[in-house]
Amino acid sequence: MGTAKRQPWVVGVSGASGTPYAASVIRALLAAGEAVDLIVSRAARLTILDETGISFRDAHWRADLAAWLGTEGPDDGLDGVRYWPAGDFAAGPSSGSYPAKGMLVVPATTGAVAGIALGLSKDLLQRVASVTLKERRPLVVCVRETPLNGVTLKHLVELDAQGAVVLPASPGFYAGGSTARELVDFVAGRVLDAVDVPHSLYLRWEGELGAAARRADGSGGVRPEGE
Ligand SMILES: Cc1cc2nc3c(=O)[nH]c(=O)nc-3n(C[C@H](O)[C@H](O)[C@H](O)COP(=O)(O)O)c2cc1C
Repeated sequence: MGTAKRQPWVVGVSGASGTPYAASVIRALLAAGEAVDLIVSRAARLTILDETGISFRDAHWRADLAAWLGTEGPDDGLDGVRYWPAGDFAAGPSSGSYPAKGMLVVPATTGAVAGIALGLSKDLLQRVASVTLKERRPLVVCVRETPLNGVTLKHLVELDAQGAVVLPASPGFYAGGSTARELVDFVAGRVLDAVDVPHSLYLRWEGELGAAARRADGSGGVRPEGE
């Protein structure tokens, strides 16, 4: 009979440095067969422009997203993505009745951290994060700033108390990664680990010192073909 109900992960991209983390998370969600609802804050347009050279436009989001993810072509692999402009408070995920699985804020600015912790809902990204918390759905906040001031530290503790996973964009070096892409994928992989989405973005620790570095050398990496 009918098709299965679409249950997306909402990916909120705010205007912190670290747009490659968002690209890696979106690619891996789609590779895992997950649907994605994408929100890009106004400030994130500046970081995307700065870090990729791409002007991200609401009206041309699919072409711009394909360029960002490197999937341009007749089959851009983006059928599973739905895009909501950051000023659209009438967007589906603005309501708790919308069947989202949860939300990943990648990367998260200190402003987004504050807005979510205090329930400001100043844009759609913050509104959906508040909805995610009130509905007791998983919320991962991948904060990117250094050093952190006292008020951000307080907001992060508040987010933790409200049930969010505070996951700093803090790559680990134990997985054998050495290139920027591998270190980005490590953080993206930890984001997906937090919500139990399978991936092969990094080599897991198996209890043997140096093993991941040796496997990375010998195996030619763990990414799916074409990645
Ligand atoms: C190029 C660039 C890089 C930035 N990097 C960061 C950052 O790493 N972390 C952060 O908290 N804010 C950063 N900002 C500042 C935020 O974009 C700014 O505080 C903005 O108001 C956040 O809005 P948003 O949370 O709605 O995206 C950066 C801004 C620019 C233009």
